[in-house]
Amino acid sequence: MKTAILGTGMVGQALAGKFVALGHEVTLGSRDPEAAIARTDVPWPGATAFADWHRANADVDVQVFSSAATGADLIVLAVQGAHAVEALSQVAEDDRARAVIIDVTNAMDISGSAPRFGVGLDDSLGEQLQRAFPEARIVKTLNTVGAPLMAAPEALADGDHTLFLSGKDDEAKAVVREILHSFGWEHVHDLGGIETARGPELYMNLFGTLAGSLATPLVNVRVMHAPLA
Ligand SMILES: NC(=O)c1ccc[n+]([C@@H]2O[C@H](COP(=O)([O-])OP(=O)(O)OC[C@H]3O[C@@H](n4cnc5c(N)ncnc54)[C@H](OP(=O)(O)O)[C@@H]3O)[C@@H](O)[C@H]2O)c1
Repeated sequence: MKTAILGTGMVGQALAGKFVALGHEVTLGSRDPEAAIARTDVPWPGATAFADWHRANADVDVQVFSSAATGADLIVLAVQGAHAVEALSQVAEDDRARAVIIDVTNAMDISGSAPRFGVGLDDSLGEQLQRAFPEARIVKTLNTVGAPLMAAPEALADGDHTLFLSGKDDEAKAVVREILHSFGWEHVHDLGGIETARGPELYMNLFGTLAGSLATPLVNVRVMHAPLA
C-alpha cells in the first residue's frame, strides 16, 4: 500500500518502520525535509533524533507534506495536534479524497505544569479535521497509546489490550482495522462516528498521568464488558 506518514517525530518514525517492515511503500512528510534530516535533537528520553533515524532508514524518502501524499492510498497524520488541520490542508484535494486517513494526533499541551486541551471539552481534533475536509475519510486511532506500543502491541501483556477506532466511513475503518491487525492489534473497538474521538482524545490526560506515575510509556487499558443480567 502506498503510504504517506505526515510527521517525523516518534510516531512517524515508529509507524514508518512498521509499515516498511510489512512491505508497504512509505514516504515521510515534513515541513522542511532538509531541516528534518539534519535534526540531531532528542525531544524525549528514549526518542531517536530524526537524523539518526533517517541514517538507519535511508530508503524512506522524506518530502514536503503535499508531495509525500501524492498518489497515496493511506495517509497517516502524525504532526503536532495544533497543526493537524494546517498540515492536511497542504495535501492536494484529490489525494485527501482518495486516501484513507489515519489521524493519530492529540491536542494535549503538556508544556505547562498541568495538561491543557487545545480543543476544549466539546470538540476533538478528529472532528475538526472532518469538518475542515468533509470529503476526507478520517479514522481516529492509535492516539491512546505511546509510540513504542503503536507498532508493537505485543510489547505489553502479549498484546492483550484495547485500541479504539472512530470515523464516519465504515469502509475506511475496515481498511484501518486490517492494517492494525497486521501490526498485531487483536482488540480493536469501533466506538462509532468521528464525534466519538472526543473520549480517546480526552483519555490522554489519564494516559499521561499513568505513564508518568508508572515511569513507562508501555501502558494501556483493556476494555472488559458483559451484558446486563
Ligand atoms: N509521541 C507519542 O507517544 C504519541 C502518542 C499518541 C499520540 N501522539 C500524537 O501524535 C502526533 C505526533 O507526535 P510525535 O511525538 O511523533 O511528534 P510531535 O513532536 O508531536 O510532532 C512532530 C511533527 O509535527 C510537525 N509540526 C510541528 N510544528 C508544525 C507546524 N507548525 N505545522 C505543521 N507541522 C508541524 C513536525 O514537522 P517537521 O517534520 O517539519 O518538524 C513533525 O513532523 C502528535 O499529535 C501527538 O500528540 C503522540
